[in-house]
Amino acid sequence: MRELTPETITAAVLDQMATTPDPRLKKIMASAVKHLHAFARDVNLTPAEWIKGIEFMTAAGKMCTAERQEFILLSDTLGLSALVNGMHDKTAIEEGTHTSLLGPFYRETTPKLAAGSSIARRSKPGSECVLYGRVTNSSGAPVADATVSIWQTGADGLYDIQENATSIDYRGVFTTNADGIYMLRTVKPLGYSIPMDGPVGNMVKAQARHGMRPAHIHFLVGASGYRELVTALYLRDDPHLADDVVFGSSGDLAVEVAANDPDCPIGGMPSIRFDMRLSRESAADKTSGRVGADPAAIVRRATNSERVPTAAPARAGG
Ligand SMILES: [Fe+2]
Repeated sequence: MRELTPETITAAVLDQMATTPDPRLKKIMASAVKHLHAFARDVNLTPAEWIKGIEFMTAAGKMCTAERQEFILLSDTLGLSALVNGMHDKTAIEEGTHTSLLGPFYRETTPKLAAGSSIARRSKPGSECVLYGRVTNSSGAPVADATVSIWQTGADGLYDIQENATSIDYRGVFTTNADGIYMLRTVKPLGYSIPMDGPVGNMVKAQARHGMRPAHIHFLVGASGYRELVTALYLRDDPHLADDVVFGSSGDLAVEVAANDPDCPIGGMPSIRFDMRLSRESAADKTSGRVGADPAAIVRRATNSERVPTAAPARAGG
């Protein structure tokens, strides 16, 4: 039997995992092991440090519920979500509006609302505004009947899910008209701090980062024959536009609040216009392009995968 040393352990693990029948799983796991081992060698990882890392991941898992997803937050704050989004954008067959983060606050149970409705049940005087825009294909032709799901923080800088697990506020699903236009009433979005009371917040504090996101509104847009678009608009004058703690903001997604936009279909209020271009669907769109999910759906799927029966009773390992 060969002797395992820090120099030979990586090859030994790769040899043992070479039996993996699924070629994609085999590739992903082999690369993960190579990079994890390289990371441990690079920093000369000590046992105490690695236990601290295991404690961190344990705490992150314990924090996850149907209302909170600490691992999405971790992926976002490490820039991994933005990286995966950027690589996904490059697989589109046409140049559309760029992807931004889905984040940990999307909910599948968002109500369908009529054009022009307000998504804000609670608003502070002066915070109301109109949000509208045109959804087009890559050549600029309108896309009718597109589904536009929108969610944002309220006038207090919090998502509904952070205040109450069951009530729905500051979110709605709209449908574009024959000209590709969606329109609604809402409140101006506010910049906010990501949740700092968990392990990811402790990491951000230990790194002396500010934890702030610039003011934004999330969009999930779907239309038959087109690639689903997960994106967000950002307010251009926000002081954190250039140093978003989750790396979602981008100059091409920045917009302004107009005091008196003559094109706005609903008058008498400040307005935000955000147009979006959709790429045609391609083979790459057979699987979901969402980096993130409704926290409740993740808990549901994780619970189901735990229930997969094992071939033999688990035995304690040595
Ligand atoms: Fe957000």
